[in-house]
Amino acid sequence: MAKAKTTAFFCKECGYESSKWLGQCPACRAWNTLVEEPVAGTASAAGKGRMSSDRGAGRAVAKPALLSEIRLEQEDRISTGFKELDRVLGDGIVAGSLVLVGGDPGIGKSTLLLQVCRHLAADGQKVLYISGEESLKQIKMRANRIGTVTGELRFLSETNLERIEAVIDQEKPQIVVIDSIQTMRMEEISSSAGSLTQVRECTNLFMHTAKQLDIPVWIVGHVNKDGAIAGPKVMEHIVDTVLYFEGERNLSYRLLRAVKNRYGSTNEIGVFEMQDSGLHEVPNPSAMLLDGRPHGVSGTCVTCMMEGSRPILAEIQVLATKSGFSAPRRQTQGFDYSRMVILIAVLEKHLGMFFGTLDVYLNVVGGFQLDEPAGDLAVALCLYSSLV
Ligand code: TYD
Ligand code: MG
Repeated sequence: MAKAKTTAFFCKECGYESSKWLGQCPACRAWNTLVEEPVAGTASAAGKGRMSSDRGAGRAVAKPALLSEIRLEQEDRISTGFKELDRVLGDGIVAGSLVLVGGDPGIGKSTLLLQVCRHLAADGQKVLYISGEESLKQIKMRANRIGTVTGELRFLSETNLERIEAVIDQEKPQIVVIDSIQTMRMEEISSSAGSLTQVRECTNLFMHTAKQLDIPVWIVGHVNKDGAIAGPKVMEHIVDTVLYFEGERNLSYRLLRAVKNRYGSTNEIGVFEMQDSGLHEVPNPSAMLLDGRPHGVSGTCVTCMMEGSRPILAEIQVLATKSGFSAPRRQTQGFDYSRMVILIAVLEKHLGMFFGTLDVYLNVVGGFQLDEPAGDLAVALCLYSSLV
């Protein structure tokens, strides 16, 4: 009898399964994304079997409900203690939601979640923080920096998913934090922690935990070198909310964005500052962005742009300088490149300005992205001013 195949090739982007390796994924057309993993059948069957036998057993036969029968309660949203974070989430944490927080290493994901846990514990919630990356001593050192911790906040340094499940069943926490999903490992799956199958199955299991116990589960996800959350794209489809924590490592400011949110808008941003005592909110980012702005300098202009429901004053800077190349350079950060080139063309044609022998560099201060057409006037003024 032919031996059954135990591995197959999966696309890292979309999860497409193929029996042999292919250079391009036929489903999402991405190149070089197929990796060998244990066959999903065995892996997910193991995972799903556990889920249904553990918690699904004993549940009544599902009964479809009318919209009018579903009650929405005000208490469904839990405040994180950070107004900035609450707004990004759409007014707080939703019970039973699975939230994924991604970001570069050292940006402050663990610090943010620890501060949220600290607030919730002080508020009387039972919190479980599971770290697969740090020892309990390292967590304590971090906790000492952010202040005293009171209430029922328990820590566990563990990567084995079966043991984590047992602890959750026993402790019955009201919120669970997993730091990070790439370190978690399911015994039944032979591949190593952080692999496609492990990450997908672990995320699936945490989704079931969140929905069945009706508690919020937060998971931290690493990002790959392109800035996307490492692991299969399917992971982002499974979870309810995907947050990105970004910022320059050398600067103390951090931006929190929602790229997916089943419970709120994805336009809102939260601004934080990393200080000695952890993350602090920046309620007025405009003041921070305009702080120390020199006066009487050519090529700069302040414009007002909307980030979600909040207007933000951001500075645009343009530098136009004599080019040393036959084809002058144009470079933008935070603004669409082709749009700037069009604006230059308009200024040349209709106002008689000449940029033909000048390199032009444009920057939107603070790492913001200026997408609104309303920003064009400010950019045009900067371009004009930079010639002076
Ligand atoms: P961390 O939360 O460990 O980042 P991540 O989990 O995203 O990898 O953040 C670590 C960085 O933050 C580290 O460079 C030290 C710095 N930090 C402070 O500046 N102040 C603080 O109070 C804390 C706890 C960390
Ligand atoms: Mg961390």
